[in-house]
Amino acid sequence: MKYSKYSTVIIGSGVAGLYAALKTEQQVELPDGLLLITKSKLGESNSRYAQGGMVAVMKENKADSTASHISDTIKAGAGLSDFNAVKFISEHSDAVVKDLLKFGVEFDRDENNNLCFTREAAHSVRRILHSGGDATGKMIEQALCKKVAENENIEVYEETVAVELLVNSKSECKGVVVFNDITQEYETIYSPCIILATGGIGQLYKYTTNPAGATGDGLALAYNAGAVMQDMEFVQFHPTALAIDGEENRFLISEAVRGEGAKLVDADGIEFMHKYHEKRELAPRDIVTRANFNEMLEHNMPNVYLNATCINSEMLAKRFPNISKKCLENGIDIAHDFIPVAPAAHYYMGGIKTDMKGATSIKGLFAIGEVASTGLHGGNRLASNSLLECVVCAYSVAEYLKSIELKTPKQIDEEIKSIIDKYNDEDLILDDIDVPALKKKLQEIMWDYVGILRSEKSLMTAVSKLEELKSEFPRKAKCLNRDEYEFKNMLLVAGLIINCALKRKESRGAHYRLDYLNTDEECVHSCLTKKDGELDFVK
Ligand code: FAD
Ligand code: SIN
Repeated sequence: MKYSKYSTVIIGSGVAGLYAALKTEQQVELPDGLLLITKSKLGESNSRYAQGGMVAVMKENKADSTASHISDTIKAGAGLSDFNAVKFISEHSDAVVKDLLKFGVEFDRDENNNLCFTREAAHSVRRILHSGGDATGKMIEQALCKKVAENENIEVYEETVAVELLVNSKSECKGVVVFNDITQEYETIYSPCIILATGGIGQLYKYTTNPAGATGDGLALAYNAGAVMQDMEFVQFHPTALAIDGEENRFLISEAVRGEGAKLVDADGIEFMHKYHEKRELAPRDIVTRANFNEMLEHNMPNVYLNATCINSEMLAKRFPNISKKCLENGIDIAHDFIPVAPAAHYYMGGIKTDMKGATSIKGLFAIGEVASTGLHGGNRLASNSLLECVVCAYSVAEYLKSIELKTPKQIDEEIKSIIDKYNDEDLILDDIDVPALKKKLQEIMWDYVGILRSEKSLMTAVSKLEELKSEFPRKAKCLNRDEYEFKNMLLVAGLIINCALKRKESRGAHYRLDYLNTDEECVHSCLTKKDGELDFVK
């Protein structure tokens, strides 16, 4: 096996990983260099598909304040957000946006060159920056990718999957084993600093807005290495994904369309959100999702509709060019027709527990972006807070790395050698497995039994179906290819979500239990490690 060493290794090339790479290279002493690993092409990520925008509490936006953003975030978070995390992220947004502009990121501006702010659900003011109309993620990602590709001090491995972290019994991370899916070669990389920026889990569900790579890899890597995981039961379902027959990976119809005035209607064109919340279409996302789901169940329909015909047609075309185009490709003219929409798995609030420096419970292991659980989102993420969290935490991990010495380990720990040996085993014969078929089964289990509405009965059904599925996938450590590694991770993370969902016997935010409809007065995080195996609830 090939060996190498780097002062810092960043895993993942979404907005969090790209920006962390640029900030680390810019500010940190890196005697052995900086490596960015990504499992497909540079920039392929959830980030690329972000539409609505990025929260920015800017000093020039006189209508806004950090106090107002903090209050909105905490309200949407159903009591589970950590005040200090919310405050930290909100207060850093102005500086980070200004820094992004220096890296060539552009946001939409009005005719006087002022930044445009849009509105999304549960925000009390217009505070969301957007780019390319409804292509915010793509525009940010492309600008950062360009800078990374031009930067000779950032080495990039594409098509390379991180498969196991090298963590010793003192809970110190010393590096990572990676697998190149093209050459089929393994490499051991030693490093005193590994930053996981591997994104979310949408692919665990039958219907999702997330692209193919959102398979929860970083969560599995960290859990297997003994890291503390937090609030794993909290999966966010977006209320309005385009519901076209046969398409399970669903294109998003941004919440910003509702922010600009679109209404949810049933098949007869009748509005229904007044039955569910005083803020109607702009209620917190979990409430709108359950409202849509409930209307679908009551009317036995595969979708509800979004009526954007009340918005000026020129404005629609200008603000939402990609949504307009995608709908038109499917025979829907959004200026005149209702858009069929249904909920889909969208974002993961749970994750690897970190502080504001991105530090996990393992020394030398950091996590940023969707894979991390900083406490910002609580039980239900406020729209457009994710991109903000990605950039603020990327910025702050780089700030922190300035203050420590990044020494690559001189000697290989004996106990770490045994981790590496598993991948060196040339004699291991692995039979072919039909991974796409197994993946489909898993996605159905998660959608049907661990989805928008949960109960002891549905979750116990998921437990037994998952056990059956595990027996069809007899891989321990080494796998044949990227698909297998991803599926192994998906099975593990699905089990953790189910376990945590079973034990949280209340409804809160996106975790909705039909058998425990009330929200407990005491609000606690669920924390889990592999070592303990037990779920702790902590304040
Ligand atoms: P990602 O962008 O998902 O990047 C993860 C990276 O890690 C990828 O490059 C992936 O290939 C790589 N990776 C994963 N596992 C491995 C491995 N084992 N080895 C190597 N590499 C690996 N949020 C907002 O704030 N505003 C929005 O408007 C918005 N709209 C959205 C619209 C859609 C359709 C979707 C799907 C999400 C949206 N979100 C939005 C959420 C937001 O885009 C994501 O939460 C955020 O971009 C996550 O960024 P990230 O860098 O943490 O992860
Ligand atoms: C959207 O545009 O509706 C997605 C926004 C988000 O997920 O934050």
